[in-house]
Amino acid sequence: MASNSSKLALVLLLATLACSQAELGQLKETTMTVYFQDWSGGPNPTMIPITGVSHGEWSFRKFGTVFCTDDPITEGLNATSAEVARGQGMYVTSALDGSNTHVLISIVFTNEEYGGSTLEIQGASRQFERIREVSVVAGTGKFRFARGYATFETVYLDMSSAYSVIESNITILHY
Ligand SMILES: *[C@@H]1O[C@H](CO)[C@@H](O)[C@H](O)[C@H]1NC(C)=O
Ligand SMILES: *[C@@H]1O[C@H](CO)[C@@H](O)[C@H](O)[C@H]1NC(C)=O
Repeated sequence: MASNSSKLALVLLLATLACSQAELGQLKETTMTVYFQDWSGGPNPTMIPITGVSHGEWSFRKFGTVFCTDDPITEGLNATSAEVARGQGMYVTSALDGSNTHVLISIVFTNEEYGGSTLEIQGASRQFERIREVSVVAGTGKFRFARGYATFETVYLDMSSAYSVIESNITILHY
């Protein structure tokens, strides 16, 4: 027959298990459409090559080129629409023929709804395809345990000012 103290220990253990399950809550699905405002040239670039093959050209097409970025992310296509986040991180041209870039960026939310939370986007992007898909591998704050995918399409391009707008649909499961 179990003693009172071991019964108590069992009750406490079950209570702890129930508690930690309740904290995680229900798995939720969130989708959003946002726009990356990207200036890869001009006086205030938000995307710059920081290193590459020595004595070689540093460009999106050249294997080994590393870019650092801090793009404003807005809720609408126009750069004047409300900022919801920043896209901060790096891109590395990772295919020998220049066709893929390895994306390593955090979406750092700055708006009221998700401010303080982040999403991590990582993976190969077929950078010259019309629609690119990259995985969402993690998140913080409101997006803890996030996983999912994001699609990207360049919806506006002004070559003369090296300005482009990239639409992104993000679909994630998180707690
Ligand atoms: C944003 O709006 C301004 C003012 O209406 C316009 O001149 C500009 O072309 C728009 N930008 C894009 C990317 O549509
Ligand atoms: C985002 O979703 C909208 C609505 O389904 C679609 O029209 C658009 O092409 C999608 N864009 C991307 C980059 O996936």
